[in-house]
Amino acid sequence: MFQTRITEMFGIKYPIVVGTMMHLARAEMVAAASNAGALGVLASAIFETKEGFRQEIKKLKDRTDKPFAVNLNLFPAMRPIDNREYLEVIFDEGIKIVETSGHKAPEEFASDLKKHGITLVHKCVGVRYALKAQSIGADAVTVVGYENGGATGTLDITTLCLVPRAVDSLKVPVIGGGGVADGRGFLAILSLGAQGVIIGTCTLVAEECPIHPKLKETLINASELDTMVIMRSIQNSHRVWINEAAKKVAQLEKQQAGLPEIVEAAGGDKARRMFAEGNLNAGVISCGQGIGLVKKVRPMKDIIEGIIYQAEELRKKLAVL
Ligand SMILES: Cc1cc2nc3c(=O)[nH]c(=O)nc-3n(C[C@H](O)[C@H](O)[C@H](O)COP(=O)(O)O)c2cc1C
Repeated sequence: MFQTRITEMFGIKYPIVVGTMMHLARAEMVAAASNAGALGVLASAIFETKEGFRQEIKKLKDRTDKPFAVNLNLFPAMRPIDNREYLEVIFDEGIKIVETSGHKAPEEFASDLKKHGITLVHKCVGVRYALKAQSIGADAVTVVGYENGGATGTLDITTLCLVPRAVDSLKVPVIGGGGVADGRGFLAILSLGAQGVIIGTCTLVAEECPIHPKLKETLINASELDTMVIMRSIQNSHRVWINEAAKKVAQLEKQQAGLPEIVEAAGGDKARRMFAEGNLNAGVISCGQGIGLVKKVRPMKDIIEGIIYQAEELRKKLAVL
């Protein structure tokens, strides 16, 4: 069922990638995604030390024997990140799939990754970036449209246009997403020619997602109107859930505040506090427009299997039209 070049390349059951998430994509969440038949993606940037990162990979290996990926962050980060350090751990630990995401293609790492036999996937928001990633040896490229949760870039291309443009332009398989929260979106992305589908926002309310239950309940009641794009003024545009912290960042940008002030307002410490304590206005959380389709807290397995079941039913219905 839904076997594609991506299921084959990654060795996974369903052509679904559960997108990496800063602060959240730790061993528990990633293992839940991989055990459910999707590809979970551990966020290396969460870990401040090489040793901490290595321990988390070990924890993850204890929790799943299914394929998973590690993300290397190429975005401007709130704290300096030396991806070479993470790479050493990735090589030592025999990681098989690396996803990169950010404002540039992973030119400086691509040949090293290849030498270690690692499958490289690059995530981006435009065809020109996707072509660049392909040219430096990416085995697959993920493209996410403007409605997605997290980084939006500056091109503002919607999923419906971006995915088929990427499919038409690339030889390597495309994973598409941005706004996918159920089987309808999943089937739509495959219909656009992608070989895989990335989801993120709809897993914020997975039981295994480490955010406070109060925040999950609030997100369930949010609609597609409850997100906004912030941090464009500092070339780090992100689609986030609208709360007081997000509005404060937007206000600072309107007042042409400097980088330190904006970074301070959007900072990870505040978000971590919100995730742990459930103070809904303490920090900023990335969130896509697909949040309007998310209606209940469920185990990750139910989310993934729900998508596949709904897509399969829909495929049958469409076949007799
Ligand atoms: C809370 C949250 C945090 C995220 N953090 C990152 C990140 O650190 N790096 C990254 O490449 N993508 C990040 N993303 C994007 C996801 O990996 C994925 O590409 C996106 O959520 C897919 O679009 P959707 O949210 O519309 O499903 C994040 C998304 C969310 C919702």
